[in-house]
Parts: sequence; C-alpha cells; structure tokens
Amino acid sequence: MIKKLFASALLCLSFLTVQADEGMWLPSLIGSRIKDMRSKGFKLSAEDIYSVNKASLKDAVVQFGGGCTGEFLSAEGLLLTNHHCGYGSIQSLSSVEHDYLTYGFWAKSHSEELPVPGLTISLLVKMEDVTDRLAAGEKAEDIIAAARAEGEGYRASIEQMYYGNQQFLFVYQTYRDVRLVGTPPSSIGKFGGDTDNWVWPRHTGDFSIFRVYAGADNQPADYSKDNKPYQPKRHFTVSTKGVDEGDFTMIYGFPGNTQEYVISDAVDYVAKTSDPMKIALRTQRLDIISAAQAESAEVRIAYAAVHANIANAWKKWQGEVLGLNRLRTAEKKRAYEADFAKWAANKSEYASLLDNMHKAYEEVIPEYYMRELFSESVATIEAYSFARSLVASVERAQAEGKTFDVEAAHQRFIKSYNQQIDQAIARRMVDEFCQRVLPERMPADLKAQIAYYGGAEKYVDAVFRSSRLLGNDPVTISDVRGDALVNFVRIFNNIYNNSRKYAYRNLSNAPQIEQYYRPYMQALREWDKDRAFYPDANFTLRVAYGKVAGYEYADAEYHHPVSTIDGIMEKDDPNVYDYNIPQVLRDIYATKDYGRWAQQIYGKKSVPVCFLATNHTSGGNSGSPVINGKGELIGINFDRTWRSTMSDMEFDPSICRNISVDIRYVLFVIDRIGGASYLFDEMTLK
Ligand code: ARG
Ligand code: GLU
Repeated sequence: MIKKLFASALLCLSFLTVQADEGMWLPSLIGSRIKDMRSKGFKLSAEDIYSVNKASLKDAVVQFGGGCTGEFLSAEGLLLTNHHCGYGSIQSLSSVEHDYLTYGFWAKSHSEELPVPGLTISLLVKMEDVTDRLAAGEKAEDIIAAARAEGEGYRASIEQMYYGNQQFLFVYQTYRDVRLVGTPPSSIGKFGGDTDNWVWPRHTGDFSIFRVYAGADNQPADYSKDNKPYQPKRHFTVSTKGVDEGDFTMIYGFPGNTQEYVISDAVDYVAKTSDPMKIALRTQRLDIISAAQAESAEVRIAYAAVHANIANAWKKWQGEVLGLNRLRTAEKKRAYEADFAKWAANKSEYASLLDNMHKAYEEVIPEYYMRELFSESVATIEAYSFARSLVASVERAQAEGKTFDVEAAHQRFIKSYNQQIDQAIARRMVDEFCQRVLPERMPADLKAQIAYYGGAEKYVDAVFRSSRLLGNDPVTISDVRGDALVNFVRIFNNIYNNSRKYAYRNLSNAPQIEQYYRPYMQALREWDKDRAFYPDANFTLRVAYGKVAGYEYADAEYHHPVSTIDGIMEKDDPNVYDYNIPQVLRDIYATKDYGRWAQQIYGKKSVPVCFLATNHTSGGNSGSPVINGKGELIGINFDRTWRSTMSDMEFDPSICRNISVDIRYVLFVIDRIGGASYLFDEMTLK
C-alpha cells in the first residue's frame, strides 16, 4: 500500500514542474526563461531574441511556404531551409532535361536563380498580447484590419494561447518573389529516404537554399527581373567551429501542433483508438503501393511523394503510441486529475469541470472517430475523391444554370490514374471501413450492396468494373447520373457530410470539449503553481532550448549525438535507391581530403553530418535554425527520432531528441559537391 501511494505521488510529481528542456516558449515572453537559458550556456539577452524596436534574431527567421521554417544567411536575402521543405519547389522547376531533384542545382550568379511561382515566405513583424483589448470590447476584425493596414504585404491574425485564455496578435510581412539558389541532389538531400525517416543514426543532407527578392524599396513585390535581393534586418552568423555533446542549443521556428494539457480521455483516444486505427489502415496502403513500386520504376517515381507522405505520419504515430504507453501518460494524467478534482471539489467554478469534460469527450469521440476513420479509409480512394468532386462540380454548374465539361475532367483524371493500385487500395479500405465503423453508423445501402455482391471486396470490384468514369471512353452528364462509382459516392454522403463538421485540428478542439479547456487551464495555473506553463504549438513562432545530447536507445546501447560521413559510406549501396550516393562523394571519401571541413570525431578524422539535441520541437520546426549560446547557426532542424514523437503530448527528456543537419555538412556539400563556395562570400562564417 505504502509502495503504491509512493508510486502515485511520484507519477504526479513529474507533471508538477516542466522537465529540463521541455517547452516551446513565446519569443516576446522569453524574458521569463532567460535566467534558465543563461545558466545552460546562452550568452545573449531576451532583447537579442525578440525585439520590436531593434533588429533581433527573430528578423532572421521566416515561415517558409505553408508549414516550414527558414533562416537568412546573408544581408542579400540568402535563405536556408530543409531539402524536404523546398522539395515541392524543386520538383516544380524540374523536368526530364533539367532534373534538379536527381542532379541538384547551383546558380552561379543572381541571374541564374530560378523564380518559384507561388512560393512565399513570411517574416514576423511583431506579436502582441491583445487579451485585454478584446476583453474591453474591441473587435478582433478591427484589430486585424488595423494591423494589416500598417505595411506593405502585411497579414495579421489573432491566435489563441492556452485554449483562449490569452490571445495574441501576430503581424507578418509576406514576400512573394522567392528564387531557388541551390540544392544538393536528392541522393544527399533525401539520403536514407523513408527508410531512415524519423531514425537515428541519420545521414541526410536535408537542406536547400533560396533567395528572397524585393522591390526597390525593400518591400514585397511580385516577381520582376528588376527586383533586388531583400535586405533582412538581421541574418545569422554561421559557426564553423562544430558542436560537442553538452553544448547549448536553441531552436527558433514555427512548430505546428501539440496537446500537452489534454486530459486522460484524449490521451487514451490517441493511444488506443486513433493512432492504432490510422497505423493499421496506412500499413495496408503502404504495402500495396510498395509492392507496385518494387515492380516498376515508373510507379516508384509516380508514387514517391504519395508514399513518403503516407509513411511519414505512419511512422510518427507508431512512435507516439509506443511512447505514450511506455510513459503511461494516460495513467499519470488520471492520477493528476484525481488530485486536481480534490482541490477543485469545493470551488464552485471548477467542481464539475472534469465531469463535464468526460461527458463531452463521450459525446464527441464517436463523431471524431468516424471522421478519422473515413478520412483514412474511403476518402483515400482516388476514384472516390474524383467522382465526388465531379458530382459536386456538375451540381454546382446546374444550380448556376451552366454546363460542366464532364469529359475534360474525366480525361484529366485518367491521364495519371493507376486503377490497379487504386482498386487494390479501395478493396482493402472499404472492407476495413466496414469492420471498423461504429455499427449504428453503417450505411444501410452499403450493407445491402455488400450482402448482394457477397463481400466488400467483391462489391468494390463490381463498382470499378462497371463505372464508365474509370474507363477510356468519353463520358457525358447522363453517364454520371447512373454510374456505379457515383452511387458509391452517394452511399457515403452522410458520413462525408458529418465528418466535415468534425474537421477540427484535434479531438479536443471540438467546441463541445474546447469550451471546458479554458477554465481548466485557468484552474491548473491556480492549482499547480510550480508548473511552468507554455502554450501548445499552433504554428506561431517559438523558442525551444536544450543541449546536444545522445541517449540510451536500449539497455546498454548508447546512441552518440553526432553522425559522420563514415556512416554515409557504410550505408552507401548503388543498388538501393535510398542509399545510392553521388560518385563525387565516394571519390572525396576515397582520398579523405576533406579540406577545411575535416574534424576529429570520436577519435578519427571525418566530417560531421547530423546531430541530436534535447530541444522540444514538432512538425513545422523543419528548417528551423539551430543556434549555439552565442546565437550563431550550428545546424538546421529537420526531424525527431520516431520513438520521441509522443513529445506532442508528453515530453520525456531522457528519450526525446530532435535531429539536425550539422551546418558544417551543409557547407561541405555546398563547397565540395556543389562547387558553389562563392556563396560563402556573402555569408558571415566564423
Ligand atoms: N520526418 C520529417 C518530417 O516530419 C521529414 C519528412 C520528409 N522526409 C521523408 N522521408 N518523408 O517532416
Ligand atoms: N520533419 C518535420 C517537419 O517537417 C519535423 C519533425 C517533427 O515532427 O519534429 O516539420
């Protein structure tokens, strides 16, 4: 009994204080952490990190494209991010004659840089706590409109922190003339592919280089050959000194989505229901696609990005489940909640909070589960998505008294459609949907069709066999009406419409649940006074700090924090796509002539490639600058180890590690593989 009590006291303790290196802090409030940061090796001030009045490090950090981070490397707008963040841009500029994905690209002068239509970067102009202004009755739209009017290319938004207990105005300036300057070949930038994704030891040179252009006044402008390189207020000094285990690290970037404060119900949902379901469904899709890829080079290329996307979250979720189970996160949260309930019992505003939350979860979970099940199963069938949007287009046109060119849409679709793969996926996905659907939600028509054809897979085969939409013959509006695939779409209409209503970022963001998190967070802050609260990630700019560190991967198996070029050569295999390095790298290795990039690592002469650190990061932190105590760039963040991905719900300092590409490997590749050392002239190397 005593032992048991002690154990539960220990369990609770771990939530009382923020563990070392946990946290994604708001830059404008970093003053509250600066003492801790300085005790760990940071040499600069809070003002150096974030200031509205003078140039600070924040002016050297940008949001890149939709969901990545990038950083300025020169006074001439040179910008560094990950290769996987620049991937879409590089792909869009590539053709069979100019295959930059395969061979890389290096602009020899500004005039050779390649504009990327549609690519933008955003700089944070300022962030401001507007909680009081909103409480005093100011309208959010007015605050946003006023902020937008303050400058050229400004956009603004108000973001919720702590489930709406605090509201921040974020004002960004968006630049829309961004050009590709350089990228290594994929055999370096994507070395290891999906095999090594989320894995340590890692040897990926995950970087690409762009340049931001501006009008004559340094303000955002549409692409023009007369535009000039943007002059940032601040760019990073690059350290060429190298990192050592224990060195201070700070990451400055835009993490996307964490849920550190959710109650046990939400953790159970992720660990027991959501992740296992999604993993099982994705395993089947990946098996089908991988098998087809192994048989045809054409399929391998056509499905490369699809495969990578499916596999990325698939692997992440596996680590998350493992981690949540290993840490017993739900169990610890239940103990924490029980203690909280005792404290809240005699406080009228909080006493029924947890009960209300449990009830709300009970109500929303079936809806949210159906939404996730549907989007991971039937909605992944290409033929389904095509037919659904075709029907919607036809109906929209009819309502507007117009006609819709069904045949043109049909031709566009079948041009790149692989029915064999899609049908194999559809058979599995419909069958899985039927097995996993909440019984009372099973569409009656689906049940009837399956009974009629003698099984889900047979039903799917019949649909694919008889649909004219999947054949090569021209189709007309009247074909659409009675088509088997269109009927298939109709069968799922209710499920589809309902699932759209529950398209919230996370289960806990459904309004029925979220309404209780605002008072819950308030209560936690009153009750759990020693806990250092930081707001969940929401794609706003954050600071995370920690140190370069290896970790105990398994009993007696220590993983060192720095990988080297020797490890690349150990993996090198011309017959394995993910590990086939460029010949020039083999040649350099054979001579061991690494020039200025040579370094003694673990007692041998080598070149560092990637390193591990203890920073709390998440998706969106890709491309983030990793800086040392002096504020100099030492790497680019690009991944976590998959076994540490439960840090989106609980950060465990003993195992959670982010993975960065060492800036010296970036410089080595620019210099020795790209032959582009002229880029160093505009950088500040130290
Ligand atoms: N795991 C990293 C992230 O979550 C890298 C993903 C891109 N690389 C890949 N092999 N799919 O974005
Ligand atoms: N690769 C992720 C990204 O693109 C970062 C990895 C993570 O989730 O930490 O943002």
